Amino acid sequence: MKLSIQLGNLVLENPIIIASGVFSPDSASYFPIEAIGAIITKTVTPRPREGNPPPRLLETAAGLINSIGLQNVGIERFIEEELPRYMELGVPIIVSISGETEADFPLMAERLRGKGIAGIELNLSCPNVQRGGMHFGRDAETVFRIVREVKDASSLWVMPKLTPQARDIVETALAGEEGGADAISLVNTFLAMAIDIRARSSRLGTLMGGLSGPAIKPIALRMVYEVARAVRIPVVGCGGIMNAEDALEFLIAGASAVEIGTACLINPSIPAEILDGIRKFMEEEGIDDIRELIGSLKIKPLDI
Ligand code: SIN
Repeated sequence: MKLSIQLGNLVLENPIIIASGVFSPDSASYFPIEAIGAIITKTVTPRPREGNPPPRLLETAAGLINSIGLQNVGIERFIEEELPRYMELGVPIIVSISGETEADFPLMAERLRGKGIAGIELNLSCPNVQRGGMHFGRDAETVFRIVREVKDASSLWVMPKLTPQARDIVETALAGEEGGADAISLVNTFLAMAIDIRARSSRLGTLMGGLSGPAIKPIALRMVYEVARAVRIPVVGCGGIMNAEDALEFLIAGASAVEIGTACLINPSIPAEILDGIRKFMEEEGIDDIRELIGSLKIKPLDI
């Protein structure tokens, strides 16, 4: 059975990618590394960031709101201390980067050249920062410029991660493709709120955060379908994937691979369970090559 997939010139042994923010080298022993196609690091920024005030995580009826605020040690310490530990894992490592200005992105891409990484995910979608993040990803022109500048600055494989807060997700994806992206990933979290009714204040340390988990899956799936139909480059689907059936829905909608995020926080073994479930489904359906599933959605004549 063939499970390997291709994202432009990046070949992965299987389509299961660990989303940014749920894995670190310190937590590696909890994860079934052999079942993982690629790992995306926690987003790194040019300078260290302390992140947002607590509380930063809040469970909701069908998901999780986070307002971490891109806490990280900054690119220089990341390259020196964290990246070597990621590279020891023997899994393709995609480094997620973000910045406060457009110019930060190509500078960081240059710093990551020659380090043996599989590529870069451009975080143009974090809802928890005042500058950069989803403010860049909301605007197609900005997405185009950042992708183009990063591609010009390095020969690395590049995948922008889009925000569902984009004015038009398809237009934004097309802008990324035109900028030279090798793949597109979508979606990051949905801007969300939760209120303490007694205190009349936000239940998070910030007013708003980003919602992930099962609540967002049907909307993320629809967006992945729309984008996969519009672009020619591979799409990586993300948003509330909790089990093999969810992952299969994204593949059938047109995603070439899937990012698993929130589900790993509940059960770090989930990547292996999802991969097993996909294998079992392929056996049952008599499918030898996972690529037969990608974009295999049948559209009824009256579907809009
Ligand atoms: C965060 O660090 O605030 C979450 C990352 C993201 O949503 O991109």
